[in-house]
Amino acid sequence: MKTALITGILGQDGPYLAKFLLEKNYKVYGMIRRYSNPNFENLDYLKITDKIEYVDGDMNDDSSLINLIKNLRPDEVYNLAAQSFVGSSWEMAKLTTEVNSLGVLYLLNAIKFFSPMTKFYQASTSEMFGLSNHNGSQDETTPFHPRSPYAISKVYAYWMTVNFRESFGIFACNGILFNHESPIRGLQFVTRKITDGVAKIKYGLANKLALGNLDAKRDWGFAGDYVEAMYLMLQQDKADDYVVGTGENHSVREFVELAFKYAGIPNWKKYVVIDPRFKRPAEVHALRAKWDKAKKVLGWQPKVKFEELVKMMVEADLKRYKQQLDLQK
Ligand code: NAP
Ligand code: GDD
Repeated sequence: MKTALITGILGQDGPYLAKFLLEKNYKVYGMIRRYSNPNFENLDYLKITDKIEYVDGDMNDDSSLINLIKNLRPDEVYNLAAQSFVGSSWEMAKLTTEVNSLGVLYLLNAIKFFSPMTKFYQASTSEMFGLSNHNGSQDETTPFHPRSPYAISKVYAYWMTVNFRESFGIFACNGILFNHESPIRGLQFVTRKITDGVAKIKYGLANKLALGNLDAKRDWGFAGDYVEAMYLMLQQDKADDYVVGTGENHSVREFVELAFKYAGIPNWKKYVVIDPRFKRPAEVHALRAKWDKAKKVLGWQPKVKFEELVKMMVEADLKRYKQQLDLQK
């Protein structure tokens, strides 16, 4: 039985990846940091909470990572843990750097010294491209131009991953993933904020949805599809880096319009207000993946299209609020 350690198990991608690996008969260890009250909601949603073995660790604490790698010596490590919200990264630049950059160095060192055969996946991001428009789409050869402390922290981690591969022969890969969403996406991210907001409006629990820049464009895919690409990267003969996305992009405005439409609420403009607090000091205007390498080498391709993704998220949030309201009756 293969073993995998997933950091960031309580986030969005951790549960989808764990479910995918459990279906492949892996033994899955999920790293959680010290919390007085950890939140297993996302794992509960996918009905896998009791199928994972939880282990303690914090990306800020190198000795906890050394202990884990030394004791488990897992076949694969998927490093998904991060301060992943771009919007907060200006106010929390130090924390963002410690978790997203130094944490990766600690993990890679632990692998190098205590389990050099462990394969390593680093959750890199399209945010690293930032302003690099590159004729409208980005691939593995596109130069980075990060626009936030978050993106900068991820550029460090990207290069450290490449460097451990080149210097010490560690099987270390970067998945440069474009935005991916799901019904268990964090509520701060724009897609889920919209679908949650729309559901509240539908049930009379809110009458406004405050957003920032509606013109930003993202290449949005489904998280459940993207975890397969993470897994495939670690099954190749040679470690490498891959861009993963859909090749289509849409604006926040288009997402809003569709979400209101799927909820059956006419005239979205009546409800959406622009609040400058949700605008960023430096915006990434548009991202679109050129994911030919992932298709050619990994044989991977996305399954869920944009419209289907919006519908899936709206329906899940409508269902959640309906269940809550039914319980209160
Ligand atoms: P997420 O929902 O924000 O989950 C991140 C997880 O990291 C959380 O479970 C969090 O734990 C954990 N974490 C934060 N600080 C930690 C620390 N000091 N020690 C241990 N764990 C810590 O993120 P996601 O959307 O699943 O994304 C997974 C990874 O992919 C992230 O690295 C993100 O930057 C990257 N990425 C995401 C996307 C995307 O569109 N989703 C695209 C490209 C790259 P708690 O639950 O305890 O807070
Ligand atoms: N969060 C948020 N809230 N974003 C808003 C809002 C709002 O009210 N209004 C407009 N936006 C715009 C942001 O300015 C940005 O251009 C876009 O919506 C997407 O924002 P997020 O959903 O917060 O995601 P992100 O693209 O900044 O970052 C996500 O994707 C990256 C991959 O490209 C995160 O998951 C990162 O961790 C990930 O690396």
